[in-house]
Parts: sequence; C-alpha cells; structure tokens
Amino acid sequence: MDRIATLKPTAVNAILAQVRLLQASGKKITSLMRGEPDFPTPPHIVEACTKALGNGRTRYPDNRGEKALLEAVAAKLQRDNGLTYDPGTEIIATSGATFGIYAALAAILEDGDEVLLQDPVYDAYHSPIKLLGGVPVPVHSQIVAGRFSLTAEALEAAWTPRAKVLILNTPWNPVGSVLTRDELTAVAEFCERRNLWLVGDEIYEAITYDGAKHLSAPAAAPQIRDRYIHVNSLSKTYSMPGWRVGYCAGPAALIQRMFMVLAQSSRGPATFIQDAAAVALAGPQDCVSEMRAEYTRRRAKVLAALQGIPNVGAIAPEGGFFAMADIRALNQPSNEVRKRLLEEHGLVVIHGSAYGPGGEGTLRVSFASGGQILDQGLSLLRQGLA
Ligand SMILES: Cc1ncc(COP(=O)(O)O)c(C=O)c1O
Repeated sequence: MDRIATLKPTAVNAILAQVRLLQASGKKITSLMRGEPDFPTPPHIVEACTKALGNGRTRYPDNRGEKALLEAVAAKLQRDNGLTYDPGTEIIATSGATFGIYAALAAILEDGDEVLLQDPVYDAYHSPIKLLGGVPVPVHSQIVAGRFSLTAEALEAAWTPRAKVLILNTPWNPVGSVLTRDELTAVAEFCERRNLWLVGDEIYEAITYDGAKHLSAPAAAPQIRDRYIHVNSLSKTYSMPGWRVGYCAGPAALIQRMFMVLAQSSRGPATFIQDAAAVALAGPQDCVSEMRAEYTRRRAKVLAALQGIPNVGAIAPEGGFFAMADIRALNQPSNEVRKRLLEEHGLVVIHGSAYGPGGEGTLRVSFASGGQILDQGLSLLRQGLA
C-alpha cells in the first residue's frame, strides 16, 4: 500500500491554502483559526538561548536529551503532576509533541493495529497512525450537560481485538473539556481491561479555567503508569511553538524503543534550544500564569460574543484556547457555515466536522490571538452567524 498517498493536510493547512487564494485576490481576511499563541516567548527563555549560543552550545545534542533538560522535565513532572520519572531511563527530549506522538506510535504499532481516538479530536493524529500502518478508530463523544465527555460505554463500543492504543488529549482540542478524575479513572480501567497502551497528549495542561485542574492520567489512576506515555511540549505553555521542543515520559523499555526511532530520524531538538527549554521548565513560572490570565479575559470575550444570537450557543472551554460555537440548531453542515463566514464575511474559523463526525454542528473559534484580531473576528462572527 502507498502509505504516503493516505496522508492528508490538517484542516488548518487545507483552509490556509484557501485563505491565501482569497488574500491574493485582494480580500481582507481575519483569522480566529490557528492554535498558535500570539505572545512573544518570555525574555528570560530567549536570553537563556542566546547565552547558550554564545557559550558554543552548538554541537550535536545527546540524542536522548541533554542532562539539564531531562532533569528539569523530571522535576517538573514531580512539581506539577505529582509523578516520579527517572531522567536517565524514563524521559526523552523530542522535537515538539508532534514528534513525541510519532515516536510513541512508532514504538508501539504493528501493521493493522487500531488506534482509538476521541471524536472530535486534533486532526493531526490520523496521518502518523496511517504512516505507521495503523488504523484510526473514532470513539464517539457527545455534548452532555454543556460539555463533550468521554464515556466507558463509548470506549467499549469502539473497541475491537485489533485495538492496541488509545490517544487521549486533555485538555481536549478542539472541544475544551478537561477530563475529570472520574473520567480519567474510567479511561484507565478501560485500558487495563483491554490491555491497551495509553498515549496522553497533555500539551494544554497549563491553560485551564474556572477552577478546572488538569490531571495526568497516572496521577488519577496510578495503576496505569506502566502502560502510559506522557507527551508534552513547550509550544503552548511557554509560547514557544517555533522552537520545536518537547518531551515524553514513560516506562523505560518503551522509552528505549522511542529513543531508537528518534536516533534514526530527528535526533532531538538543537542543543541550545534544549538549554533554553530547561530554563523555561525550571525557572520562574509567572509568565505561565500571566498568559493564563490573558487567555481567561479572551475566553470571556468569546463567550460574551456568542450570547444572544438566534439558534447559536457556546460550549465554554474548561481548558485550551478554543471555544466551540454550538450551531446545531442552525441545521446546516458546519463546513457550509464556515465557508459562508469566510467568503461573505472574511472570517476564518474551523468547522467542527474537520475534527471528526462528532464535531458536526459546531465551529472552533480560536482565541490564541487577542487584541484587535480577536475583537474584529468576534464582530464578524456575530454578524455572520446572525
Ligand atoms: C492537541 C495538540 N497536540 C499537539 C500539537 C502540536 O504540538 P507541538 O508544537 O509541540 O508539536 C498541537 C498543536 O496545535 C495540539 O493542538
């Protein structure tokens, strides 16, 4: 089979291509689409990078990760997540969460293995699964009491004997749910019962609202630790998406297999980037709470803008920087609504169905950008939906 032919651009990339065409024809476009924080990287992290460059930290990195970064990750996992991992054997540094997910899947999957995925979910999980010979299987989720939830019944309904791994994203892109201790316990029990690996993408962990608190699955259900791979990165928490640095933690034998994949491909983030990442994780964390406070203000603006429009509601995110407009009562495919917002109002958002059939009836509105872009975008959104 030609695996490359099965790969698809993400919704963001496909829509970006349409946007560029419209822009080339002179149309002014406002985007509430991307998941890219608009804050500059905090200055002490930038300084750590330039200092490392000045100190000649430009040689090949330790492919497993530089010692200072691995130790900073171990200390962070203890401090923020209450988890103990050995920096020598149970952690690796990766080029973002994207490579962490790829390496975890490469270490686990054999041809034809099924990978369970929340539906709707971040659409960049599908291509690495397919590239590695796996088969994505959606776990249907529904809006119950104003939020998308993941239930044991839906997990069981999606399971077949070919299932090998569940990817779990919490806080959950695009829908904004932060899985509760009970939900995580149910997921952990399911993975144990069905002998599955659990790959946890925790990239939005620091961005939560209204008292919701992120929990890593093994903190909620310690029995899952030996089948759990923690995937994280600095892209969102420290506004470092272009630095391409992240990390994974898990049982030593699996981390060793992931290291084999990494050593034959990316060989890890640049040495000076790893030095700066260690400073980000180990240094003062005020920048993280300042960004969270600003996202909280933006979230309130988005939710206010979605009030009072006939047949439109809002799903208030518990975490992340996306809100879902609930347009089920409009009775139109979300992709049609998205296209009209773009073509008639010059606004880019993403249709919920881009994230799986479970996302139909919603639109993802990003508040990763603030200021004038957000104000202008929300005014176009109100106009368009009304
Ligand atoms: C759920 C999720 N995982 C992973 C990523 C990619 O992360 P990174 O920049 O660390 O590769 C994103 C980026 O939007 C995301 O939303």
